[in-house]
Amino acid sequence: MTQEHILRAAEALVKEKLARDSSGHDWWHIYRVVQTAKAIAAREGADGFVCELAALLHDVADEKLNADPAAAQRELEDWLAASGTPAAQVGHVLEIIGTMSYKGGARPPMRTLEGRVVQDADRLDAIGAVGIARVFAYSGWKGRPIHDPSVLVREHMTEAEYRDGKDTAINHFYEKLLKLKELMNTPYAKQLAEERHRFMETYLQQFYAEWEGER
Ligand code: ADP
Ligand code: NI
Repeated sequence: MTQEHILRAAEALVKEKLARDSSGHDWWHIYRVVQTAKAIAAREGADGFVCELAALLHDVADEKLNADPAAAQRELEDWLAASGTPAAQVGHVLEIIGTMSYKGGARPPMRTLEGRVVQDADRLDAIGAVGIARVFAYSGWKGRPIHDPSVLVREHMTEAEYRDGKDTAINHFYEKLLKLKELMNTPYAKQLAEERHRFMETYLQQFYAEWEGER
């Protein structure tokens, strides 16, 4: 198996698994993360094969997308073991996937350059024009409102309000998206994040102005 064969097989696996997702983790999210990871890897001198394979597989065992995440994780491990990927790289890819998710809290930094690259690529897909599209797609999927001026920042909500679904798409910008710029690992991702971040700030200004009929 050449690296190219393994990557194309991984692509087929992911397309099949994520084809019907509408939560913002569909195949095209994977496609964008792969494209961005490859671009960052080339600039930062990271291993392109490991970055692309990890980017392709990073969401297949995600707990949000699998009724049985432990089974999905085992399936992923079995698939990799049988894929022809050398054992050291299998270990590296699994480590990246297992440690890259944001999950709110401060996590230890990614151990390897390839991990930092793929994490940056995934985070970049949550900001900018595409990131804005994904927030609203995800909120709709969850049945949440676009915006409620009385619910601006989650820190100001009680637990009950939050559980009752008062979380809004606009609130998610403050909860997560506007924080991602500072979390980029690599210089090239920081550069990309700057422009995407500015785009979101401009978007929010326009949004509030339109909300009040001012523009
Ligand atoms: P990851 O890709 O790291 O798994 P998430 O699953 O948390 O990230 O987010 C996937 C997409 O869904 C992102 O674009 C994110 O902005 C959006 N999203 C996640 N949580 C919320 C939320 N509470 N409200 C709106 N959008 C959300
Ligand atoms: Ni992702």
